[in-house]
Amino acid sequence: MIENQRDVGTDIIRFHRLITRSLEIVIQNVNKFLERGAIEELNREGFLKYAQSFSIVLEAHHVLENEKIFPYFMDKLPDAPYDRLLTQHEWIKTSLSQINSGINNLKSNVHELESLNLLKTSLGQIDKIWHPHIQIEENQIYGRVESLNLSLKENNRLKEEFTMFFGEHAQPANLVMPFVLYNLSPDDRAVLASALPEKVTKQLIPIDWKDEWASMQPFLIK
Ligand SMILES: [Fe+2]
Ligand SMILES: [Fe+2]
Repeated sequence: MIENQRDVGTDIIRFHRLITRSLEIVIQNVNKFLERGAIEELNREGFLKYAQSFSIVLEAHHVLENEKIFPYFMDKLPDAPYDRLLTQHEWIKTSLSQINSGINNLKSNVHELESLNLLKTSLGQIDKIWHPHIQIEENQIYGRVESLNLSLKENNRLKEEFTMFFGEHAQPANLVMPFVLYNLSPDDRAVLASALPEKVTKQLIPIDWKDEWASMQPFLIK
């Protein structure tokens, strides 16, 4: 556990897990709504917030890799195919902008079926790239961080820098923070929560922000 906590590569792999999980949940629900011909009214707000948070988190993860993580590891692990990974980020970005316009239509209650179909197509494109993409990142970068023997201090400095940068790019926090935590298994969640200020985990998420994110609960892990 302590070993896991100190390795910044393990942190990033944990992040991949929550994105993978939420990608599956959005795809499953879009398929279910397409079979019905519309989103379930009861879960409309929650699903749209969930899908929106997914899009924000995935884009912020890529901006973090583009601007901070890859530049840091480029000279330490020079064999990884950074150019190919950056190109894949661009492809995913294009699909995410289609997803965002679909979500905006659905929020305004216009073009229901057309927008659900747009989501299905764009999510399918992401699903095709995502799994081989993270396999490259994990095999050639994040799974090799341990072999670099970074000091505890350096690992912690990177974790803090990456967390801050992600926080600045993944907004609004009152949706994104609970989304991140509750797409993780309880064990993974506990590790991530231990790195956050108590104000966030004990006050903001469970109390002050609860009304904003509670509708996403049917899609989250308890
Ligand atoms: Fe990536
Ligand atoms: Fe990644």
